[in-house]
Parts: sequence; C-alpha cells; structure tokens
Amino acid sequence: MARKKISVIGAGNVGATAALFIAQKQLGDVVMVDIIDGVPQGKSLDMAQASPVELFDAGITGSLDYEATAGSDVVIITSGSPRKPGMTREDLLQTNASIVGSVTENVVKYSPDCVIVMLTNPLDIMTYHAWKVSGFASNRVVGQAGVLDSARFRYFIALELGVSVEDISALVMGGHGDTMVPLPRYTTVGGIPIPQLISEERIEEMAQRTRDGGAEVVNLLKTSGYYAAGASLALMAEAILRDKKRLIPCSAHLTGQYGIDDLYIGVPIKLGANGVEQIIEVELTDDELQSLQKSAQTYREGIALLGY
Ligand code: APR
Repeated sequence: MARKKISVIGAGNVGATAALFIAQKQLGDVVMVDIIDGVPQGKSLDMAQASPVELFDAGITGSLDYEATAGSDVVIITSGSPRKPGMTREDLLQTNASIVGSVTENVVKYSPDCVIVMLTNPLDIMTYHAWKVSGFASNRVVGQAGVLDSARFRYFIALELGVSVEDISALVMGGHGDTMVPLPRYTTVGGIPIPQLISEERIEEMAQRTRDGGAEVVNLLKTSGYYAAGASLALMAEAILRDKKRLIPCSAHLTGQYGIDDLYIGVPIKLGANGVEQIIEVELTDDELQSLQKSAQTYREGIALLGY
C-alpha cells in the first residue's frame, strides 16, 4: 500500500512540531511548505536525519512550491503572522485571512481530494474562511482547537489528582479563546465525572487556567506555545489517515446544531477518513448553551469583517 501524504503549510513553530510528530507516528510522507527560503528545506532535512535515531520511516521534505504538495491526503495549514506591537485583533484577522486565502487556493489546486486541518488564528474564523475559499464540502475542512484545549484541561486534572493522563477524558467546547466552554460534567477520570472527585471551586480554577492556557505559555515563552498544538494536529491527522473515527472536540461547520447556523465552532465530532463524519449534540445547561452562543456571536462578527 502506498504511503499516505501529509502537507504542512507554514514550517514555523507549530507546523514543524506537527510535522515531526506525524513522521514519528509514521502516518505517511510529510511535505512542509513556507515562504522563507531554506526554512522548510532545512528543517525537513534535519528531521529526516533524526529518523535513523528515532527509527521512523517517513519521507520528510520541504519546499517553497505547492507542486510538492500534490495529491496530499491531509493538508494542515499553520501559516500566519503573529500579532505585532500596535496591531489590533482586526488587523491580524485581515492579515491572516489574506495568507490563509491564498494558501487555501494553492492547496486545493494541487490536492483537490484532501481534508484540510486549520490551525491559524483566529481559529474558528480562519477555518470558516478556508472552507469558503476551498469550495469543499464542509466535512473536509476542520479546525484544531478543542483537542489542545481539552489536553490542557486533562493535564491540570491529572496534576490535581496525581493520576495518569491516560485515564482522563475531557470535553472543552466553544471558541478557541476567552469564550471556550470547559464542561466538567462531561470530563471523567477512569469513567468517574470530575465533580465527584474535585470541589467545584478547584474545577473552576482549572477551567479558568485552561481558558488562559495559551496566554500562560506566551507570558513565559514570549511567543505562542507549539508542542501541545503540534501534538494535537498530529492526533487529528492520525484520526483522518487511519480512519479512527475519534470522538473529539474540533471546530466544525454548524448548520443549526446548538442553535447556531453557518459558523465554525468547537463541538464534539467524529473524525475519520471523511473528515467531520458526525457532529454530536450533547445536552447543555442553559448557562453552557449561553456561553457557546456568546462564543458564536464573536465569530459571526469576525466573519462579517471578512465580508461573509
Ligand atoms: N505561505 C506559507 N507560509 C507562510 C505564509 C504564506 N503565505 N505566510 C507566513 N508563513 C509562515 C511563516 O514564514 C512562518 O514560518 O508561517 C509560519 C508561521 O510560523 P510561526 O510564526 O512560528 O507561528 P506558529 O507559532 O507556528 O503559529 C502559527 O498559529 O497561533 C497561530 O495565527 C497564529 O500565525 C500563527 C499560527
């Protein structure tokens, strides 16, 4: 059987980390594309030279040319610009929309049958934009946010209880940002919902630390984190390429679920070879539903700025 092909657009911190995790999982051959000459080529050569040490068989190459991505099964888009001093969120939105737009056109030209996994921020808005530009059915465009956000929540719970991260399953819905909605009732340790194990007050502290998870890393590192985001992208690539049908939170296109229509937002989905194979509607309290819809309102304003 021929190897699968995964392209990663943007060979920066997150893109390169995702590429390495994907190669180590031997999900297929990896191609990195960037606009800075030498970066995708140099990083991929360096990673390929780690393969005899770490013992993984995966082609890893880098290019400035989208032709190298032709026929990809999965394309991960991480290309974007960080927020620079003096730049408003709106400026960043326009800058990254223009990058994501041109990248998506090139991706679609060379890999018309791929599943696109979006990472560039503002995530839920960029995923919507890529979907529109791609002309793909919405199941084939999905955003990474909930896997990372719930990983952070899981990690904090494991620390709190002194138990293995393996036994913790968490659900964090909503947007990737201040409006995310961690759901303790749907978060379990060895099958036991956490409200039975941890006080309400401590749970809320951990939920807040999860909401601020990105900022906590930025404050320390002076740039966005990338290990956990890279790992989360690799998990999504694996779910698609191995048709694992993982039930995980991702940014998906809603068409009325949770009272939200024609927006991308973080919800539990089934992720497999066809991308978003199902959107799961869980029962929410009025407060939870309100938080989700508040999240949605922000994104509706965001896509309106892009003319949608
Ligand atoms: N085509 C391809 N690559 C591009 C383009 C483009 N049009 N524009 C920028 N890039 C590349 C940059 O050259 C850089 O290597 O995207 C990469 C982004 O990498 P980093 O700056 O290291 O950012 P990273 O931490 O990886 O985060 C990626 O995620 O958090 C979001 O929106 C944020 O843009 C950021 C993205």
